[in-house]
This record gives sequence, C-alpha cells and structure tokens, in this order.
Amino acid sequence: MTPTVPVTFAETDIEQIAQAEGRVAVIVTPDGKLDTAARRVNRLCKGALKRLVESDAWTRLKPGDLRTLAWPAGMQAEAVDVLCLERNADPVTARKAGAALGRAAGEGDLLILAGTVRRPAELAFGVALRRYRFTEHMTGEQDARPGAVTVMTGKPDAARAAYADMAAVAEGVHFTRDLVSEPANHLTTTEFARRIKEMESLGLKVSILEEEEMQKLGMGALLSVGHGSASPSKLAVMEWQGGESGAAPLALVGKGVVFDTGGISLKPAAGMEDMTMDMGGAGVVCGAMRALAGRKAKANVVGLVGLVENMPSDRATRPGDVVTSMKGDTIEVINTDAEGRLVLADVLWYAQEQYKPAGIVDLATLTGAMIVALGHEKAGVFSNDDALCGAFLKAAEAEGEGAWRLPLAEAYDDLLKSEIADMKNVGGRAAGSITAAQFLQRFVKDGVPWIHLDIAGVTRVKSDTAYAPKGASGWGVMALNRLVADRFEPEG
Ligand code: BES
Ligand code: MN
Ligand code: ZN
Repeated sequence: MTPTVPVTFAETDIEQIAQAEGRVAVIVTPDGKLDTAARRVNRLCKGALKRLVESDAWTRLKPGDLRTLAWPAGMQAEAVDVLCLERNADPVTARKAGAALGRAAGEGDLLILAGTVRRPAELAFGVALRRYRFTEHMTGEQDARPGAVTVMTGKPDAARAAYADMAAVAEGVHFTRDLVSEPANHLTTTEFARRIKEMESLGLKVSILEEEEMQKLGMGALLSVGHGSASPSKLAVMEWQGGESGAAPLALVGKGVVFDTGGISLKPAAGMEDMTMDMGGAGVVCGAMRALAGRKAKANVVGLVGLVENMPSDRATRPGDVVTSMKGDTIEVINTDAEGRLVLADVLWYAQEQYKPAGIVDLATLTGAMIVALGHEKAGVFSNDDALCGAFLKAAEAEGEGAWRLPLAEAYDDLLKSEIADMKNVGGRAAGSITAAQFLQRFVKDGVPWIHLDIAGVTRVKSDTAYAPKGASGWGVMALNRLVADRFEPEG
C-alpha cells in the first residue's frame, strides 16, 4: 500500500529552524502578526517574511492560502511556505490549509511551525491526505525515500493523541485511492479479494463467498454480470465488531466492478479506460472499514462488496435475458451496461438477510447521468430515511466532502416496468440516476433506513481537489467514518 507520510509532533524549538532541511512552513494570521517562531524565521531570512505580510499580495490571501519564499538566505531549507490562517480556524479550514501546504511542499521533509494554532493535528492530516502519488507501476520510483513531517506546537501530546485517529483515516483514504488507481489487469476480482483478506491483520473478520456459494443463495443478478469474464465473481464481507455484542450493525455495501466494458451492450472505445474505477464504491467501503478498524471504532459495522468484471463473451449475458435475483424478483436485462444495480441488488439483499442491519449505505459509480447532474463536485445522495440522510449530509459537510440529495418517487419507479419480468434494469434516458436508485430501492426492505450514494462523478477526477491530487480522490471515507462516529458510537 502507498504509505502515508510519517508525522511527528514536538515542542517548539526555534533553535532548530535555521538547520531544518526540506521546507519550513510558518503560520501567520490574516492581520499579519508574527509569533515567536515566525519572528525567528523573519530574522533568519533577513526580513523577507515581514515584507511579505506587509505587502498588498498578503491582503489578497484568504485563510488557508499560502505564499512561498524560495531559497531563504540564512536557512538550510529550500523554501519557507507562509500560510495565512487564523489561530482558531475551524477543523475543515485547518485541514484544507494543511492540504494546500502538502501541495506546495511536494514530497520532501517538511517542518511546520504551528505555534499556538488550535488544530495542529488537522493541519498534519491535511498534509497527509494531499501527499499521495500512485507510483506502483513507475519503474525506479518505488523506493524513493518518503519525506517526513514534523509539527512544532505548544501542545505536542494533545496533538499526537488527536492525530492518532486521523492517521487511521488517512490510511483508509490512501487504501481507497490505491484500489481505484490500480488497473484492471492487476486488480482482478481475485487480487481485490486477497487485499481485503489481508485486512484481517487489523482485526477485521473477512469472508469471501465464491460463485458456487452465491449460486446456492440464488444470486442470479450478480452472477449474470460476471458470467462473461474469466475472473470469478466474489462477494467479500468485512465485519468490524467494535460495539456491543448483538447490536445491529451498520452495513456498507459497495459496487466492485473491476472493469466495466458494458458487456454485450459494449461501451464506445473513447474513454473506456476510465472504467478501471468502476469498483470505486467497493474501494470506499474497504477504505472506510480500514479506517474504522485502524482507530478501533466502538461500533458494529459490516462491509460487503460485490466483485465482478463486466465482459462481453460467448458466456456473457445478452440484452433481453431474464435473470432471477436472490430476493426472488425477476429482472429483464435490457442493457448489459446497467450492471452495477444488478450486482448491488443481490449484495443488498444478502446484507439484510444475513445481518439485519440498523441501516445501510451503498456506494456505487452507478450512472453517467450523475456526472451530467452534479459534475465532479458532489456525489448524489438518495434515501428513504430523512434522519439517517440528514446525519450523512451533516457528516459529509463537516468533512468537506460534497454531497447533494436527489429525490425518489413512485412515478420514477414506474419507469422500470417490464413486459415480461418483474422489472427491467433500465428506465430510459430521463432521470437516469434516479431510476437507478429506484431499482436499488426495490431490494431494500420496508423499514430499513438506507442511503444510496452515486459516486460516478467524484471517485476519480481530472483536476486537483481540496484533499487530493488529480486522480483517485478517496471521496466518502471521511464522511462515512464520521457518520459512524456521530451516529453509531457512544459519545466521548
Ligand atoms: N459504470 C457505469 C457508470 C459510469 C459512467 C461511471 C461514467 C463513471 C463514469 C455504469 O455501469 C453504466 O454503464 N451506466 C450506464 C447506465 C445506462 C446503460 C442506463 C450509463 O450511465 O450510461
Ligand atoms: Mn456499465
Ligand atoms: Zn458500471
């Protein structure tokens, strides 16, 4: 796994500033006041810092922005990054400021002079989130020494304690990004299952259902998607028992299509390579489970991911085929490219039969229509339960991850009527993301609080986001982690 940056917290020692290698970050409030460390930096670089914070350029900065003084005289460091930030900045602002620092600082050593900033751990968290590069397949890059981050702060013990949980979350986010970045010839269903199994070392209980077992359970919808592929379909289950024994768990369900060619309803060639990320929902579930286990969350959570590959072949499902789901409902497969919902139908049903969950959150790169609606800024949120949905939206907001609720309604559900089966798998062009959600809702039992997250637009993005360089974002790991903390863990 791509390692997260090592972070250490230490007492402020201004005598070390001159010798620090790599980069030094200093924090200055928007009104331009220099603290003890900043005054030392200013003295070392012969007044350059003071000139910066007294300049017009400084007045134009927003909290979280930074300016760089390159090759400062009188210091070993190659640059001083001057971050504009209030001492009592809220967590998201502090985190985003850290991410901006991570972006500017690149990959070398970084000394952050946090002084009396109230959230030094959030600053470091931002750096850790932003500092990510997927170099797995670049020869010669694999064993470059990763830089280290040192944070000098007035209260290093408190910061270290606060950071411990954040480090677990950052690991979860990086794990998700690795999975999403990995090409499909490497991340086969078998390899995916192996990486999940490895998480047993964190205290998760992992089981893998193979095709034969799923056949016995009647998962005809999920199995119909993987039929055309040489890679066997699998259902991976991760159980985290951190709460009261016997308490109903939260279920996290993910679409894990390791590659989506569209099947016999083949996708056009242009851009098809993007479909290596069609396991993004499963990737977020795995990252969230990793974060929860890593910080020993006091809640019961079970992650279930359907791992399949959607390929055309002589064994592949044809348009017009009728398949039977584990629930027993029959589905007319009009378009084999609407495969994610077929996978989720059976995983959702299995989750309910097996675990009687207190709630379900499913995640899927489900529809291109979601990108048309919300672009790459926010994921689509659908829910049958205002309370759970409200809690999720609040958690996403608090973590700075974009999310926007869309409607469900019977009139949309009517679009799924089939002439020859209980339903068809597509509802036509109009409201494509909503009809997909309606399809899923048919596999959610009455009274089970459920959220569907369509993450097609946010899973992999072509430009930098607040927390990530362009590429796999890890969107959702932080929001889910907080949802669990807010709603499923005892306070304190
Ligand atoms: N995996 C795709 C959705 C997708 C598209 C995700 C682009 C990310 C980027 C999904 O399986 C799919 O192909 N959906 C179809 C549904 C249609 C056939 C009803 C789509 O969106 O075109
Ligand atoms: Mn598809
Ligand atoms: Zn797909």
